[in-house]
Amino acid sequence: MTDDPQEGSLGAAATARRGHSVAVIPGDGIGPEVIAAGREVIDAAAHAAGVGIEWISYDWGSALYRATGRMMPEDGLDLLAEHDAVYFGAVGDPGIPDHITVWGLILPIRKRFDQFVNYRPVRWLPGVPARLAGRLPHEVDMLFVRENVEGEYMDIGERSGHAGDEVVTQTARFTRRGIERVTRYAFERARERRRHLTSVTKSNALKHSMVFWDEVVAEVAGDYPDVGWRPMHVDAAAYEMVMEPGKFDVVVASNLFGDILTDLGAALQGSLGLAASANLTPRPGDPSAFEPVHGSAPNLAGRNVANPAGAIWAGALMLDDLGAPGAARAVMDALERTIAARDVTQDLGGSLSTTQFTNRVIAAMKSPNGDDHDG
Ligand code: NAD
Ligand code: IPM
Ligand code: MN
Repeated sequence: MTDDPQEGSLGAAATARRGHSVAVIPGDGIGPEVIAAGREVIDAAAHAAGVGIEWISYDWGSALYRATGRMMPEDGLDLLAEHDAVYFGAVGDPGIPDHITVWGLILPIRKRFDQFVNYRPVRWLPGVPARLAGRLPHEVDMLFVRENVEGEYMDIGERSGHAGDEVVTQTARFTRRGIERVTRYAFERARERRRHLTSVTKSNALKHSMVFWDEVVAEVAGDYPDVGWRPMHVDAAAYEMVMEPGKFDVVVASNLFGDILTDLGAALQGSLGLAASANLTPRPGDPSAFEPVHGSAPNLAGRNVANPAGAIWAGALMLDDLGAPGAARAVMDALERTIAARDVTQDLGGSLSTTQFTNRVIAAMKSPNGDDHDG
């Protein structure tokens, strides 16, 4: 027997004694600013709920790449495997090609831990300025379930031919198992919500991958006769998200389509700074990862102006996943009350800095009746 929290075979017991072990990767740009904010809020909620969180911070990202030629150490993924969750900021540096930074850090994490679901709530919170004229917050309440480990995001392709006459291929790969499990997950979530699923496709033009996608989704749908569903081409979905956002409940989409539509979803929410996501693994021993949807936003970095709400919301998703739903609700409640009081950052028309907004959220958590907004 040992008290060493690293002891593998005692992992579960060690967690119960010492709390949850969370790997933090603040990353680049505004990543460290929003992650610091999120940690403070999560700590406050966890403390109040008697939930232990042990943070282990990893200084990985573009600065490390400059120094060593790697975005993370060679054994980085093995180190993450020891944790219960990963809390991630952002990667991306104007001086390094984006495919180097993302394929050096964030995409390998998703793939290594088979985080097949990218769970992205698109919910417009009361108090946020409307981007669509004449709409009400309740009309923007969708849940994106994005396939997260295959599809268009594969390292399969090649470049051939002479300079000036190049030929390039980039191959998408879909598996029956991959489509089936993400679709099943989406139908389960639809059952808990308004019982409607939209499957994003493009089977008119993509006559191999998306025709197969539609077939598998239709098969899985047979197991959910109580949930209504429709296939919808991605172009039409983009149009309808703006014109009739209330028609979407749960949306299942391939990796690339889900990526694009959730930035549109973030616009419907009112700011990329609000959007949160969870990368969920089906493997009990492996960590899921929680992150804001936005990137490193170099235009805002280092100025204490970024909106940390998406990172805070991602923290709530993490607390929920770690088995602390009460603490998760406390975070969301405080976040929503702060925003409803229009105590917000510049992207939402306010004047608060990142740290001021974070302090307001923590204050709101400490006064559950909402009487903390008078100062
Ligand atoms: P971005 O998300 O960084 O920024 C897009 C726009 O949203 C910018 O106008 C930015 O100012 C704004 N914005 C983003 N986060 C905000 C916040 N918290 N508060 C207020 N405004 C916010 O996307 P980009 O400019 O396309 O990419 C910048 C870099 O980030 C690139 O290197 C890209 O590869 C990378 N990226 C990383 C991730 C990730 O790590 N998960 C996600 C997207 C992009
Ligand atoms: C996101 C990001 C990533 C993605 C990039 C950084 C690879 O845009 O999480 O939405 O495309 O998945
Ligand atoms: Mn994206």
